[in-house]
Amino acid sequence: MQMNPFNEKISMIGLGRLGAPIAACLAAKGFRVTGVDRDADRVAALNDGRPPVYETGLDEMIAQTNGRLNATTDTLAAVRDTDITFVLVPTPSESDGGFTLQYVLSACKEIGEALANKQAYHLIVLVSTVMPGATGGPVRDTLEKTSGRICGEDFGLCYSPEFVALGSVIHDYLNPDFILIGESDPHSGELLASIYDRVCQTNPPNSRMNFANAELAKIAVNSYVTTKITFANTLAGICQHLPGADVDRVTGALGLDSRIGRKYLTGGVGYGGPCFPRDNRALASVARSVGASAELAESVDHVNRRQVDRLANLVKQNTEPNDTVAVLGLAYKPHSDVVEQSQGLQLAESLASNGIDLIAYDPAAMQNAQRVSQNGVRFADSLRACIDTADAAVVMTPWPEFTRLTGTEFCGSGRLRVVIDPWRALDAKQLSDRVRYVAGGVGPIDDRQRLTATVCCNERKITTPTNK
Ligand SMILES: NC(=O)c1ccc[n+]([C@@H]2O[C@H](COP(=O)([O-])OP(=O)(O)OC[C@H]3O[C@@H](n4cnc5c(N)ncnc54)[C@H](O)[C@@H]3O)[C@@H](O)[C@H]2O)c1
Repeated sequence: MQMNPFNEKISMIGLGRLGAPIAACLAAKGFRVTGVDRDADRVAALNDGRPPVYETGLDEMIAQTNGRLNATTDTLAAVRDTDITFVLVPTPSESDGGFTLQYVLSACKEIGEALANKQAYHLIVLVSTVMPGATGGPVRDTLEKTSGRICGEDFGLCYSPEFVALGSVIHDYLNPDFILIGESDPHSGELLASIYDRVCQTNPPNSRMNFANAELAKIAVNSYVTTKITFANTLAGICQHLPGADVDRVTGALGLDSRIGRKYLTGGVGYGGPCFPRDNRALASVARSVGASAELAESVDHVNRRQVDRLANLVKQNTEPNDTVAVLGLAYKPHSDVVEQSQGLQLAESLASNGIDLIAYDPAAMQNAQRVSQNGVRFADSLRACIDTADAAVVMTPWPEFTRLTGTEFCGSGRLRVVIDPWRALDAKQLSDRVRYVAGGVGPIDDRQRLTATVCCNERKITTPTNK
């Protein structure tokens, strides 16, 4: 049952936003990888050496795989011909906040059927986010039942979710803060840890435990981060109304406290995307299911949903009723085309449904936004067209395309007069020469404070906010 992971062949079931980049990383690091997906277009793309999904650096990573990466729609053959199988299929949220196992169990059934005809030891690594109780319950049961073999003896099972953000999946996967492994038995955990040793560039610590602890830790990490983001956004809301206040000054001080730390304390727009909102709701769901308090997670979710209202008010306070407003940024974060739970799209829809003439643009997410948008949002053909059509612009996603715009470029046709910057990612001083610059999270300035505030504005270090 001993395996040398350096010689192992890996199958990756699910070639989506996470599975495709991770498969490419494993192959680039020397493993022979067979990707599996039901979507024949994704399989064909990978076999042609093309990225099946939009992700930063994926084309370069595929180019480094030197023939070690191929793809198929045939799960049974892929499992049969490999030693380790990663499962990265969707686990959509249910109405109570939990995650459905429909795709995971369907994949496990096929893995079990392949294992039934195989003698050699096999390791299965579930990476999809699941609820506590899933891996040691229905997942292990399905594998044992369909394979006729015993977990922990004939095959190993690990739960090892990733803490990666879309747009930086490859960087985050190769440079993790830590590795989380829930394991059926020590050998399975050691084998998986040895794979991470070979792939990760940061020598991360391993946190190994049973399934239930790992399942809870995954959603707890993301829920903790959403709480921190929401705390910073609450401070931004207070500062916006407090004469002389500046959220960057306040969170800058908070971040110096080693019990708090600087990351995720920007105080900009609410969190969105495919992970944070649903992991937060999942924690509340777990709490309710065991009769524990769900109030903290529920409050964070509630406050996050209100951030769009805070920014809509900021827009209304700084525009005239007949103004055309440009929303710049529809992806939930820069370097991504994903609009799930995007606050940029939600703000655009909220303003449009309140009768404001609204035009929107994003460098990568236009198609996805147009597909899901329902509420009278006009989509511009280009950044230039978007700005030139508007009287005011609000920068919701701090793409470099937006944050490097100069005052002259914003003025363009001479129509645009107001730039609203919830992230304070633009060059305030430079823009103020040509347009009225409005920073979110900064309070009104009275005469006595004007001098100090000017100094603060000049001192402000201009950085592009990140999610880390
Ligand atoms: N996207 C993220 O930022 C992120 C971050 C951390 C964790 N996760 C978790 O990772 C999992 C996958 O997320 P994703 O965003 O990569 O999903 P995705 O929807 O982008 O991709 C999933 C892929 O799995 C394929 N698939 C589904 N069932 C299959 C089966 N039985 N056999 C073969 N292929 C199958 C689909 O065709 C699709 O290509 C989810 O559980 C998610 O919660 C996602």
